[in-house]
Amino acid sequence: MEQFGVVVLAAGLGKRMRSAQAKVLHRLAGQPLLTRVLNAIQRLHPDMLVAVVGHQADEVQRQCGTAGAAFALQKEQRGTGDAVRAAQPHFTHFHGNILIVCGDTPLLTTTTLAQFVQQHRERQATLSVLTIRLDDPAQYGRVIRTSDGQVRKIVEARDATAAERAVQEINTGIYCVRSDFLFSALQQLQPQNAQGEYYLTDIVAQAVTMNLPTYAVLTHDPNEVGGINSREDLAMMEKARQIQLRQQWMAAGVTLEDPDTVYIEEDVTIGQDTVIGPNTQLRGKTTIGERCRIDGSAYILDSTIGNDAHVRFSVVLNESELGDHSDVGPFAHLRGGTVLAPRAEIGNFVEVKKSRIGEHTKAKHLAYIGDAEIGRDANIGAGTITCNYDGFHKHKTTIGDRVQVGSDTTLVAPITIHDDVYIATATTVRHDVPAGALVFNARQEHVREGWTAAKRAKEAEKK
Ligand code: UD1
Ligand code: CA
Repeated sequence: MEQFGVVVLAAGLGKRMRSAQAKVLHRLAGQPLLTRVLNAIQRLHPDMLVAVVGHQADEVQRQCGTAGAAFALQKEQRGTGDAVRAAQPHFTHFHGNILIVCGDTPLLTTTTLAQFVQQHRERQATLSVLTIRLDDPAQYGRVIRTSDGQVRKIVEARDATAAERAVQEINTGIYCVRSDFLFSALQQLQPQNAQGEYYLTDIVAQAVTMNLPTYAVLTHDPNEVGGINSREDLAMMEKARQIQLRQQWMAAGVTLEDPDTVYIEEDVTIGQDTVIGPNTQLRGKTTIGERCRIDGSAYILDSTIGNDAHVRFSVVLNESELGDHSDVGPFAHLRGGTVLAPRAEIGNFVEVKKSRIGEHTKAKHLAYIGDAEIGRDANIGAGTITCNYDGFHKHKTTIGDRVQVGSDTTLVAPITIHDDVYIATATTVRHDVPAGALVFNARQEHVREGWTAAKRAKEAEKK
């Protein structure tokens, strides 16, 4: 039976990135470059998918590995042709077409790949290469055609003559090749070129010489097939993807007040009629419900926001959950494991960590709430601190329903404040408080009349 396989080339370090990190691990819209390419390919449902890795192979496999993808190791990076050879052991009993793509083309779409493979099949081609015309063909390989338009060969920019360099049609690095031809052609490669590498591109001239049906197929969207070689390329492609993502969410019914300043990662979802203000970053696995308002300058990572929530100016949310109609900020920081029940309110300069805040409960000003569980309809006064850390361990604070915590209260954990307790202002609470009680620190205010004048006189004498 006719089979369909894919090889993704991802072994290179990417010298031009000037990075200690393998190129394909660099991220675009929050995803490693290789993950993006593998996702696009998996929707083609290949019988065999092999990613060729080399530089930081273990880390690449750890970050980008997905079900159904095999990894082949290219120990030494001796060129794109050598890289495909490294995948060959996975294709010993394989008969059919193999799609070859590079791991550094992050905006590739399933649709373009599917159309390309379809055309290759219809023409019963031995080899098809996907090409594009660029105003600035830069360092890409040039596609050389005969006078009647038949593809003849691909020449790398560094090996090209001046006339060849003037050609604007370039090799995208995407090929579809009959497996039997591919693996025999790879045996013939010679590293006779400027880089001393085994160039995969040389199989095009081989197929032409053998009179096998060979096609260069033009595509039109330069972003889709653009390869990333430098930080500047990465920035340009990120910009292109951000434009697409903003358009996608606006088309889905989300208002972006100043689209150019909103940064949205790939796995984010946003509900209809939500309004997002300027300078907002939505990162990781963040989900925002319907009719929410994000005022702006927010940094939201791996968080879930219900419907009708209001995130005011300058809020940082990390691994937090906000219930429907909750209200946060301005200037609040919700850290990992924070869960706000519906209609909870967290205000100015309040930090919350790993805590559950009950329905309708408010902490509106200047507080630290860590490792706490707070019931419903409670009020946490300004300056309240949960002392959750004794220098060795973290301890829990439990606060019941309808508790009134006075301003400047310190709650020394572990501690439980039962329902309906009233804590007076400036109380340090060290022991559990039974339901319905008032708790305060017995103390007197000492007043010394005339103290200031005496102190000033004493200081003046010293001079
Ligand atoms: C390659 C093509 C060029 C094309 C361009 C499209 C060759 C010789 N040139 O050039 O015609 O226009 O892609 O983007 O093929 N890789 C390995 N092992 C290696 C070398 C490379 O796995 O030994 C991988 C890299 O990790 C990368 C991909 O192959 O993902 C392309 O390699 P790169 O060095 O970026 O090739 P280009 O110079 O861009
Ligand atoms: Ca490249």
